[in-house]
Amino acid sequence: MGASDMMVELVDWRSLDRETMTACMQLHTKVWPSPEPLATVIERTWQDAQQVDSPQVAQMCGHLIRDGQRIIALARSFHRIIAIDGISMPILALAGVCVDTSSRGRGYGEAVVRHVWSRLDDQVRCSLFQTGIANFYERMGAVRIHNRITSSGRSFWDPHALIYPAKTVWPAGTIDLQGDGW
Ligand SMILES: CC(C)(COP(=O)(O)OP(=O)(O)OC[C@H]1O[C@@H](n2cnc3c(N)ncnc32)[C@H](O)[C@@H]1OP(=O)(O)O)[C@@H](O)C(=O)NCCC(=O)NCCS
Repeated sequence: MGASDMMVELVDWRSLDRETMTACMQLHTKVWPSPEPLATVIERTWQDAQQVDSPQVAQMCGHLIRDGQRIIALARSFHRIIAIDGISMPILALAGVCVDTSSRGRGYGEAVVRHVWSRLDDQVRCSLFQTGIANFYERMGAVRIHNRITSSGRSFWDPHALIYPAKTVWPAGTIDLQGDGW
C-alpha cells in the first residue's frame, strides 16, 4: 500500500468490534510492549472503552489505517475538559500515535495525526498532547507549551507537552488535566 491509496478510518472507540480492537492492540503492544499478556491488554482496553463517556471525557475515537486484516497505523482522540488556573477549557486529546515498524516513513503517522486534528471545530479549537518526539509534531504545526501540569490521577509522563494549532492563544497558568494523562 502506498501513500496515494492511504485511507484513514474513523471508529467509535466504545463500540469497536472485538476483531478490530484486537488488531489495534496487536499494533499497540508491538510498538509499546506490555508485561501483561495480549488478551489481558485487550480485555482491559475493552472495559475502559465502555466507561470513557463522563463529564470530563467524551467521544473517544480511533483513527486507523488497515492493510488487509492488520492495522498498520493508529491514533486515538477524545474530548476532555481541562482547567487552566481554574478556568475550564475544552481540548481535543491526541493519544497513542503509532505505526507498524514495517510501514514507517510512508506518511501514515502524519496521516492519522492530521485526521485527529480534522475533528477540531468552533467548540473544541485546540488539541493537547504529550510526546518524546516534539519535532514530529512541530513540523505539522504544533508548538510546545511550558505550563505546570497537574492531575488528581496520573499526569503527563513524556518530556514535552504540545498544542495544535501553534497560533492558539494559550494561557500561562497551571493546567489541571482533570483526570489521568494520555
Ligand atoms: C513516530 C511515528 C508515529 C512516525 O510514523 P511514520 O509513519 O513513520 O511517520 P511519517 O512517515 O508520517 O513521517 C512524517 C514526517 O515526520 C518525520 N518523522 C517521522 N518519524 C519521526 C520521529 N520519530 N521524529 C521526528 N520526525 C519524524 C518524517 O521524516 C517525515 O518528515 P518528511 O516528510 O519531512 O520526511 C512512528 O515512528 C512510530 O510509531 N514510532 C513509535 C511510537 C511513537 O513514538 N509514537 C509517538 C508517540 S507521541
